[in-house]
Amino acid sequence: MNRIITLDEFIIHRQKDFPYASGELTGLLRDIGVAAKIVNREVNKAGLVNILGVHGSENASGETVQKLDMYANDKLIDCLKNSGECCGIASEENDDFIEIPTVESKNAKYVVVFDPLDGSSNIDVNVSVGTIFGIYRRISDEKGPCKLEDFLQKGTELVAAGYVIYGTSTILVYSTGRGVNGFTLDPSIGEFCLSHRDIEIPDRGGYYSVNQGYYLKFDVEMRRYIDYCSDLNLRLRYIGSMVSDVHRILFQGGIFLYPNTRKYPQGKLRLLYECNPLSFIVEQAGGLAINCQLNRILDMEPKELHERTTIVIGSPKMVEEMKNFVERYTLPSYTTSNGVGEKTP
Ligand code: AHG
Ligand code: MN
Ligand code: MN
Repeated sequence: MNRIITLDEFIIHRQKDFPYASGELTGLLRDIGVAAKIVNREVNKAGLVNILGVHGSENASGETVQKLDMYANDKLIDCLKNSGECCGIASEENDDFIEIPTVESKNAKYVVVFDPLDGSSNIDVNVSVGTIFGIYRRISDEKGPCKLEDFLQKGTELVAAGYVIYGTSTILVYSTGRGVNGFTLDPSIGEFCLSHRDIEIPDRGGYYSVNQGYYLKFDVEMRRYIDYCSDLNLRLRYIGSMVSDVHRILFQGGIFLYPNTRKYPQGKLRLLYECNPLSFIVEQAGGLAINCQLNRILDMEPKELHERTTIVIGSPKMVEEMKNFVERYTLPSYTTSNGVGEKTP
């Protein structure tokens, strides 16, 4: 039988890969692992203790917040505050970032961004939800409080990113920029154990994932691309929890898209809390992530904490193909005899 490698063991072992590492990042990742176990416990017993349901308030993006979102948010904030390893936190559920006073954070070098519970509309119906996080090294002076600029860094500056899915089993996937590894929670010993080493996304896959219900609200080139996926007999899978949809694609190959719609002209998903961390993971596993302007997600310069973006993410050959498809489709329009411009498909 193979020896079990726990998340803590693995993180400490990997610290040696970073010659100047002081242990702070290691500590942070461990704390996120602890928070994930606490959230997992609540997600699992949610149906029993009436913690489900709409909390009544709205989050910073104007969406209804459910109780478990708030619980996960509070737990992550508590664990990160207590760790003293980060100087600031930005969460999808808070309007502004939270500064952690220097005394508690010992002049810590890192800030953490997260979506405490992604896919919260699925909670009431027992479908997978997850936590997504990213870690940046601060760029402001370490002696003072953290600043907005520490959070508004491009995804290329991520030091680490990961996610946890509370699903049929609970899995934590993370990367510090040297490949991607997955750990499954063994409830009998309460430990995340290495279960998926050096994850590589397949070049192609049989799935496409998009909210096809919005088909008529997408731009014409996106509609044609979706028709193309359907023509190829790709299977449509859409959970409505980005972290779970992207997780499927990471393991089985495929493409996930959340384009602009009339309701969300910039796209719905958040650059800092959802798109950057998942793009970092997918790229680390050999995949690609771009927006509908066909620019790399990780190169986007965030302007505000709750910025949204469109996203196309997944298997490298499929994202490339989508890019080529859209580029071809949006070639400069030519003018027909009746004077109406048309696009060449
Ligand atoms: P959250 O629960 O953190 O607000 O995120 C929900 C997001 C994302 O997980 C999912 O892919 C998307 O919303 C689903 O949106 P639609 O219902 O518009 O498809
Ligand atoms: Mn989310
Ligand atoms: Mn959320």
